[in-house]
Amino acid sequence: MERENVLIPQADLDRQREFEEKIRRLFAAREAHPAACVDTFGCQQNVADGQKLMGMLEASGFTLTQDPKEADLVLLNTCAIREHAEDRVFGNLGALTHTKKENPEQVICLCGCMAQEPRVSERIKKSYPHVDLVFGPQALWKFPELLWQVYETKKRVFSVQDEHGTIAEGIPVVREKGVKAWVSIMYGCNNFCSYCIVPYVRGRERSRDPQAVLAEVRQLVEAGYKDITLLGQNVNSYGNDLDLGYHFPDLLADIDQIPGEYLIRFMSSHPKDATPRLFDVMAASSHVAKQLHLPFQSGNDRVLKEMNRRYTRQQYLDLVNYAKRVMPGLVLTSDVIIGFPGETEEEAMDTVSLVEEVGFDALFTFIYSPRPGTKAAVMPDPATRAEKQKWFDKLLEVQNNMSAKLHAAYVGKTVRVLVDGESDDPEYPLTSRTEGNRLVRLKGDKALIGQFADVAVTGSNTWALYGEAI
Ligand code: SAH
Ligand code: SF4
Ligand code: F3S
Repeated sequence: MERENVLIPQADLDRQREFEEKIRRLFAAREAHPAACVDTFGCQQNVADGQKLMGMLEASGFTLTQDPKEADLVLLNTCAIREHAEDRVFGNLGALTHTKKENPEQVICLCGCMAQEPRVSERIKKSYPHVDLVFGPQALWKFPELLWQVYETKKRVFSVQDEHGTIAEGIPVVREKGVKAWVSIMYGCNNFCSYCIVPYVRGRERSRDPQAVLAEVRQLVEAGYKDITLLGQNVNSYGNDLDLGYHFPDLLADIDQIPGEYLIRFMSSHPKDATPRLFDVMAASSHVAKQLHLPFQSGNDRVLKEMNRRYTRQQYLDLVNYAKRVMPGLVLTSDVIIGFPGETEEEAMDTVSLVEEVGFDALFTFIYSPRPGTKAAVMPDPATRAEKQKWFDKLLEVQNNMSAKLHAAYVGKTVRVLVDGESDDPEYPLTSRTEGNRLVRLKGDKALIGQFADVAVTGSNTWALYGEAI
């Protein structure tokens, strides 16, 4: 793909700012103060997209609300990764028929990964007539134009063409209050793991220009953000499409030069693209958190091959052993799928044994969910749900014991944390994160929020550490 076909031209982006202005004037003429409710499902990429959608809505004159009942516009920013995620969205859409009955002027929009699935957009067209606007991730940057069309034509608008992937810079963003910020550095995925819908709905891999990423991170650091996460479906392949001889470790090393007191994290990493050089750069940097989310999905070579993951159990182990060697104390987390089509109990137990062998801090565990259109969805899947649940429970038990053991080893030690917010636990009113992103519940003064602090760890369980600011 030629770079000029990937980057949306500045003139087209400027035009979107004009549509924002038009919508603002439309409401101003009615002396109306519209409110919008954005509900985001799914991964951090989607959360980052949601912040842009909110940015465009604010620029169009909307205030933001959490309550769909009081909103003039409701936007569901959806996820297609598992069936359960889709069911939740259809449930929400059903409920919105009532809010729209109360307020017939309410505009209901659906975007995100589900919107890009033809099966879903057809269903919305036929069975959810109260939905006014449907657009996929490829059309996110032209949300103001699509919304203007809805207001102007009073007709339903669908923008879900299977476009080649693009990059749009300079979209307004509403960030979370506090110290955390997300920066998408690349979009799409080329890996086509056989169970996964993402490459079908997010398009091919494309990387933002290094200068654009560096400028955004610099701005965030200057604005006081202290916990910045670089996002991509597969961040380690950053730069491969740019032909600059500039890759993810180069970007990390350049970001590390930005002066200030802050941490850099990144996710997700694919083992096939994670290299010893990446770990060397992490080890040598002063801002990159010594934390790695490295999904392995299965501990069995036959299943890994069927998943199209392109590494073996041994290669994965070698990789994490190297990473642990150059970064003692590294906090390691991962994603796992249990019950891939054709997986046997013995193969599932290979996954459990890998978990025992590596000692992850935390795991995100999923039971396989067939996604129509993917290769795995048509593979024979003889194991019953009850069998898969049994394997899954075994995995959870092993992991929970491991997390509890790793956490207990911290009691009596001092750790450095970034205090990020308040909790509703009166005994431990603050929440914080270690460099490794472990949750630490804290006794201490609210004035600490937004600051780094040293903490004496006094207790622990499977999910968190407990401590007192020194
Ligand atoms: N790009 C990221 C993953 C994004 S999806 C990566 O490769 O690491 C997050 C996780 O959802 C995946 O790591 C996988 O464990 C899980 N997942 C993806 N498709 C799934 C499916 N069809 N059923 C169950 N879990 C799935
Ligand atoms: Fe899905 Fe695999 Fe791409 Fe991750 S790397 S988004 S699991 S296809
Ligand atoms: Fe879901 Fe799309 Fe993310 S499918 S996990 S929101 S990329």
